Amino acid sequence: MAKKKLRVGILFGGKSGEHEISLRSARSILAAINRKKYDVVELGITREGRWLQSREALQLLGESAVSAGNDTGLSIAAAAAEPTVDTGIDVVFPVLHGTFGEDGTIQGLFELADIAYVGSGVLGSAAGMDKDAMKRMFVAAGLPLTPHVTLLRSQWKSDPKKVTRTIEKALQYPVFVKPANLGSSVGISKVKSRKDLAAAMDLAASFDRKIVVEQSVGGPGVKPRELEVAVLGNDEPEASIVGEIVPAKEFYDYEAKYELNGADESVSIIPAKLTAAESNKIRKMAIQAFRACDCAGLARVDFLMAPATKGKPAEIVLNEVNTLPGFTSISMYPKLWAASGLSYPKLIDRLIELALERHREKQQTQFSR
Ligand SMILES: Nc1ncnc2c1ncn2[C@@H]1O[C@H](COP(=O)(O)OP(=O)(O)O)[C@@H](O)[C@H]1O
Ligand SMILES: [Mg+2]
Repeated sequence: MAKKKLRVGILFGGKSGEHEISLRSARSILAAINRKKYDVVELGITREGRWLQSREALQLLGESAVSAGNDTGLSIAAAAAEPTVDTGIDVVFPVLHGTFGEDGTIQGLFELADIAYVGSGVLGSAAGMDKDAMKRMFVAAGLPLTPHVTLLRSQWKSDPKKVTRTIEKALQYPVFVKPANLGSSVGISKVKSRKDLAAAMDLAASFDRKIVVEQSVGGPGVKPRELEVAVLGNDEPEASIVGEIVPAKEFYDYEAKYELNGADESVSIIPAKLTAAESNKIRKMAIQAFRACDCAGLARVDFLMAPATKGKPAEIVLNEVNTLPGFTSISMYPKLWAASGLSYPKLIDRLIELALERHREKQQTQFSR
């Protein structure tokens, strides 16, 4: 008898602002995944948070039913509450970006349901999402960062003058003001002087209770280079070659990421033009950052590099880790692996293997004495 095919749930959509980006990533994965090897179950989450499967999930993707439509009874949530429930899924690939998908919340559900899943666990996901917690982990690992301060929305609302003093004491303009937990540059502003600070703080405060304010890398008038590394693995992660993004705008904001097309588009350069020493240093730091945040499976690690000026050498700092980076076949993460010799379908295979490996490894843990 033929070996039973592994049943893989591809989960996409979701309540985050990155719903649409998730659908793009999922369309690519569904088109490329090896169906000789896997039974694919499409699982969609609407913008309202309702779970859908097979035919209905495909409708969410705007596609007619391309698969036979495997039904699982959407039992992941049921399995979290009732151990005898069979989810009918061997492994889930949460192709979800941002809040409720990349931040540890859904990973918590998979843990409760005891189901294998692609990517980081609860802690790695939450750390990769929270720019304040992430920076603490980077600092503890001795990794270089741009100076920053973290403030609470409540502090900003109750005493904006004091918060302004705190920021100006620690940092020099221009600064970047960011909601601590979000993605795709939503809610982020570059602030060049005090007159624009309040609007930027209000905007960031509308998206999160924590606000991170950072010194601009390179200082006034400098557009830092944006370098990205794809990391793959569990306990022995590997780093791809280094890629570079040249944003089409003053910084890599939402529009520069997703909305500009053709000649106006942001450009990616693979491999980035760097010396061997710079590239080795960046790849090593990418693995350290992955480990510092307790990531698993995959993460894209992003750096900012201020070019060398007279009397000052180039400065490379860590910007962030993304635990579920954009995953269309032309997104940076898969492209970096393709350029490093691992094709897109093979990368999907590898991520599924790593998910199963991590799940098996976890079974060695005893949860009570
Ligand atoms: N400290 C900084 N100095 C210079 N540019 C920055 C800085 N922080 C962010 N940026 C710019 O803003 C973009 C988005 O910031 P980032 O922290 O990566 O947020 P997100 O998680 O939304 O991608 C970066 O890709 C870069 O273009
Ligand atoms: Mg980013």
